[in-house]
Amino acid sequence: MEQRIITGDLRDEDIELEQGLRPLTFSTYIGQERVKSAMEVYVKAAKMRNEPLDHVLLYGPPGLGKTTLSNIIANEMNVKIKITSGPAIERPGDMAAILNDLNEGDILFIDEIHRLNRAIEEILYPAMEDFVIDIVIGKGPGAKSIRLDLPKFTMVGATTRIGLLTAPLRDRFGVIERLEPYTVSELCQIVSRSADVLNIEIEPKGAEEIARRSRGTPRIANRLLKRVRDFAQVMHDGIITEDIAISSLDILEVDKMGLDLTDRKMLLAIIEKFGGGPVGVESLAASINEETDTIEDVYEPYLIQMGFLMRTPRGRQVTDLGYKYLGINKNGDSNQMELDM
Ligand SMILES: Nc1ncnc2c1ncn2[C@@H]1O[C@H](COP(=O)(O)OP(=O)(O)OP(=O)(O)O)[C@@H](O)[C@H]1O
Ligand SMILES: [Mg+2]
Repeated sequence: MEQRIITGDLRDEDIELEQGLRPLTFSTYIGQERVKSAMEVYVKAAKMRNEPLDHVLLYGPPGLGKTTLSNIIANEMNVKIKITSGPAIERPGDMAAILNDLNEGDILFIDEIHRLNRAIEEILYPAMEDFVIDIVIGKGPGAKSIRLDLPKFTMVGATTRIGLLTAPLRDRFGVIERLEPYTVSELCQIVSRSADVLNIEIEPKGAEEIARRSRGTPRIANRLLKRVRDFAQVMHDGIITEDIAISSLDILEVDKMGLDLTDRKMLLAIIEKFGGGPVGVESLAASINEETDTIEDVYEPYLIQMGFLMRTPRGRQVTDLGYKYLGINKNGDSNQMELDM
């Protein structure tokens, strides 16, 4: 699948950019107030008791700040963080070695934790619960199992797909928090802060325009900021004004609510081929030549979040708001009614 500029997933162009933009403390981590204040309390309490933090599982769509928050937790706890990911750990021995290498209080961060294989998960159960691992030495009837004590560590897991986590693993996390999409005003603060860090001059209205089109996602906001800066430099004097933001994002085909052509194509397909729905996701997928999984995981969530699309028991349906946004009259004739949002 072609990478969309408004994807929440990490793109190559984000890697370098994000390194400099990650906030390092609770106070510079914008938004997620509920999760942040809960985590601040847990961190404070653990520090007061001089104990490691409880295991934490963070979940939510890509680009909302799970990795960032995990690093902040380590930073605020004043402990080391060892970073790995589900697909990176291939053999049980690798997992055992990582665990064995930790020091008391350290954080083990496992990204994409839903992708751990079963044999490795099973090592984690006693490790997380009792801080021990069982290692089997030798093979066949002569094999012996020995139990090793581990330092009391904190596991921080991150996942975009909490539904794929097995119950026994999920149950071993004392703290499970879900990250939510950011409001436009929070994204506005993030864009302004990033502009500051990157030495980009931006007017508040320009920041707001980028924020509004960033689909509730800081990663997208930072990416769009960087793209708009290029336009500002070439077309203007480098300052991102409202006009510059609007015209560059229009050229990038990110519309004023953050929809791209694919989003529009899907809404239009439902309207034009299925009378606005409801249409089953399989029929929809076939009609726009996509996988049903892609529709459910990638295309649909933001359209539903925006209220342009609805999931009904009989399938997907474009809402009145969706029609209005596309400027299409429900009875068929198109009049470019602009939505004032
Ligand atoms: N609360 C925040 N305040 C400021 N910037 C943020 C915040 N959350 C995320 N960011 C920015 O967005 C970028 C992406 O965040 P991060 O990598 O933490 O997302 P993620 O949820 O781990 O994504 P993935 O699911 O792809 O791993 C960060 O590099 C950071 O610059
Ligand atoms: Mg991450």
